[in-house]
Amino acid sequence: MKKVRIGSVGLGRLGLAHTENIANRIRNAELAAICDVDQKKLTETADRLGVANRYTSFEEIIAQKDLDAIVLVSPSGLHTKQISAALDAGKHIFSEKPLGVTIAECKNAEKAVESHPEKVFMLGFMRRFDESYQYAYNKISSGEIGKVILFRAYSQDPEKFIESSIAFSAHSGGSVS
Ligand SMILES: NC(=O)c1ccc[n+]([C@@H]2O[C@H](COP(=O)([O-])OP(=O)(O)OC[C@H]3O[C@@H](n4cnc5c(N)ncnc54)[C@H](O)[C@@H]3O)[C@@H](O)[C@H]2O)c1
Repeated sequence: MKKVRIGSVGLGRLGLAHTENIANRIRNAELAAICDVDQKKLTETADRLGVANRYTSFEEIIAQKDLDAIVLVSPSGLHTKQISAALDAGKHIFSEKPLGVTIAECKNAEKAVESHPEKVFMLGFMRRFDESYQYAYNKISSGEIGKVILFRAYSQDPEKFIESSIAFSAHSGGSVS
């Protein structure tokens, strides 16, 4: 089976984890390029994972002709513009959530996705794949627990994320903002 050649954008807290998974844990994927505006992070990651195609510019990574797909893990405020540009460049996309940070830009991204029906677009709504949420969903949809009037869920990041969560909130939202 032909491997899907992926370009990974954003090598921060989550982007690095996605990038390492693509490089080492996903059988039919090939990490064919990486991109981050932070040159130090880019060089360290590219050297460690053996990636030759490395870019500090998003426009350059999407211009790489032999990439099938882009995995987008940049700050949330960049998602919608990058989604539109990557679709126009002919790439399939997995983007981390949120889709965007305003309703207007989300609607623009929706239009961009609809205008490229030949491309796969997936948003990283991880709770939809979370076993405990699926368990609750099945209990509700089967009618087993009757009519639901309130659903309350909690999640908590580890303490070691506090500093990066505060820095992150300025451009991407999240639990601290
Ligand atoms: N699904 C989840 O559970 C989950 C968890 C964490 C983060 N996220 C999402 O993932 C995204 C990234 O979050 P994070 O915590 O990794 O953020 P982060 O701030 O740690 O990392 C962002 C990275 O993007 C780089 N970057 C900035 N501008 C760029 C550009 N123009 N082109 C390429 N790279 C650029 C930064 O240098 C940094 O390395 C956010 O949208 C966030 O909401 C989702």
